[in-house]
Amino acid sequence: MTKVDKKLAVMGGPRLITKSPLEYRWIGQSDIFHLSKMVKTNLLSGFLAQTNESHFGGQWIRKMEVESARVFGTRYSVALNSWTSGLEAMVQAFRLREGSEIIVPPWTMSATVSAIVNARLVPRFVDIEEDSFNLSPDGVLKAINEKTTGILAVDIFGQPCKAKELRKIADDAHLIFMVDSAQTPRACVDGRHSVQYAHAGGFSLNRHKHIQVGEGGIAVTNSEEIATIMQYLRNHAEVTSVNESKFSSLKLIGHNLRMGEMEALLGLKQLIKLDTHVAKRRNWGRKLKNLILEKKLEGLEITLPESYDAHDFYILPMRLNVEKLCVSRNKIASALRAEGVTGVVSEYGKLNHLPSFADFPTENLEVAEELSEKKFLGIYMCGHRFTEKNLRDIAMAFEKVWHSIDALKH
Ligand SMILES: Cc1ncc(COP(=O)(O)O)c(C=O)c1O
Repeated sequence: MTKVDKKLAVMGGPRLITKSPLEYRWIGQSDIFHLSKMVKTNLLSGFLAQTNESHFGGQWIRKMEVESARVFGTRYSVALNSWTSGLEAMVQAFRLREGSEIIVPPWTMSATVSAIVNARLVPRFVDIEEDSFNLSPDGVLKAINEKTTGILAVDIFGQPCKAKELRKIADDAHLIFMVDSAQTPRACVDGRHSVQYAHAGGFSLNRHKHIQVGEGGIAVTNSEEIATIMQYLRNHAEVTSVNESKFSSLKLIGHNLRMGEMEALLGLKQLIKLDTHVAKRRNWGRKLKNLILEKKLEGLEITLPESYDAHDFYILPMRLNVEKLCVSRNKIASALRAEGVTGVVSEYGKLNHLPSFADFPTENLEVAEELSEKKFLGIYMCGHRFTEKNLRDIAMAFEKVWHSIDALKH
């Protein structure tokens, strides 16, 4: 290291980074123009609980759904007020046997699992793969039993799960395959996104994600029946009992999962620019990865897919060899934060330990536990605009912490 004071900020030394990256701007002037025009129409929601087409939302909802089905390459798309709502509607739409099991990784956000529980199903936690943090197909094969009716995989941090393999496993065992792509709208394997392999899947539009409208979600499927049931569940489902449709016999109990017209308009505008938004995160993520790797820091590993379109960099994930470093992950994370690194993520993937989920069945979760407890370290990429200097500063902060790592041993 040259020119910088080597005493770590966490030990009272000077903070290395004095200028943080700016917040990412999702909303442009043209969005504001269209939004204010829309607001003046006074129609902020087009939904009515009636048996006519207003049951399916207003003009912006429909336009957004047409565009998202096009962008995600599925036949149907359903806009909802969050992806948590999307998960609930999606899992319920399959009407799986009550008490049956859905295989799910513990490395996700709680909504993936609560959607299973709220549909009166039982999550079975299955291990992840160390290099991708995604559900292990081998683990899934071992976990399938007579109670299993589905698999709910996650595309975590911006990297797709092994959706092709998982779909094959699901088909062979007559299971439903769903995917939670909240964090990964574009990345694909062999040119196909995970949702294209799944019976249904979807995306979050909350304030942390690649596209954000405040709160929102998009569920997608190629099944007309599942899309229609999700649409009914979104708007109380009461109209199914007053018309003669084949859905009335399903006795659906719906919710209010409706998205407003303002969010739909913003969502549509951002979907049109989705590739531009994602390309920025991919460029920053790959650049940061390379800058950190150039420092050749012992005991720090970053393994990512080679291909440019195979990671969306919601989070840049890394692994620490804490045995080699003789320093805990949490101490390293605190030291990086103290140097001014924005978006250091260290806690993740402990859903099987949450009191509400702790009694659900688990397979051997060795990899997931080790990553959660000791090895995982990430940098959240989606919320900031990084300049070259911001990225170089972060890499320098890593170098500084590694340079004085002995000081953290005590
Ligand atoms: C993997 C995953 N699933 C589900 C969700 C829930 O999405 P929302 O906040 O839109 O309800 C999130 C949001 O953080 C997520 O990261």
